[in-house]
Amino acid sequence: MNHLFEAIDFVENSLYEQIITDIGTQQFSIVENFFTAEEVAVLRQSIQEKHEEHSFKKAAIGNRLNETIIKSIRGDVILWMDESDVNAAEALFFKKINDLVSYLNRTCFLGILHKEFHYAIYPKDTFYKKHIDTFQNDDRRKLSFVCYLNEDGWLPENGGELVLYLNENGEEVEKVIYPFPGRVVIFESQIIEHEVKPVNTERLSITGWLKTR
Ligand code: OGA
Ligand code: MN
Repeated sequence: MNHLFEAIDFVENSLYEQIITDIGTQQFSIVENFFTAEEVAVLRQSIQEKHEEHSFKKAAIGNRLNETIIKSIRGDVILWMDESDVNAAEALFFKKINDLVSYLNRTCFLGILHKEFHYAIYPKDTFYKKHIDTFQNDDRRKLSFVCYLNEDGWLPENGGELVLYLNENGEEVEKVIYPFPGRVVIFESQIIEHEVKPVNTERLSITGWLKTR
């Protein structure tokens, strides 16, 4: 046997395989501890520092060419991340993301070429009404990715649940997901309708999209 052909060019990653299976079967995946407690702590510190130093913008509906701010639809404030200018926390964030993306591209031929991520803060009493993450004039978003940076001990009365509206045999079923720290939710941007329920305690996250073009 020619040993050249025995080389294993990548190691199967069971976490990523679970994500791929979940998305293939149910169009979404919930991953506990995608980020460790220490990683969440440094990312939380990063979002808090950025919030003090930079102006987070009222989030808009529609893409950047077609922005309208409709507070009755969404009330979070956001700051786009710039992978070419990162602090240590953001560097580790993008390292994990890029690792996942290259795995998806190698094993599922998803063809993810671009990505965009922003920090998001939902102040008390804000929400994001039921929506889908692809815009009428822009279908490049393939997978949505949300990662929660809240303190340990997020309680149901804090609100801010992410609700995915799933279609099970023609019936709408609600999947309620609490924004626990370290938890990551990945779902098909073009398919899954979802909403963020009203928040009673400031809610911290990073949201992003993996894009084909
Ligand atoms: C979004 C979004 C969900 C969440 O930013 O488009 O739906 O749980 N976020 O923060
Ligand atoms: Mn969304």
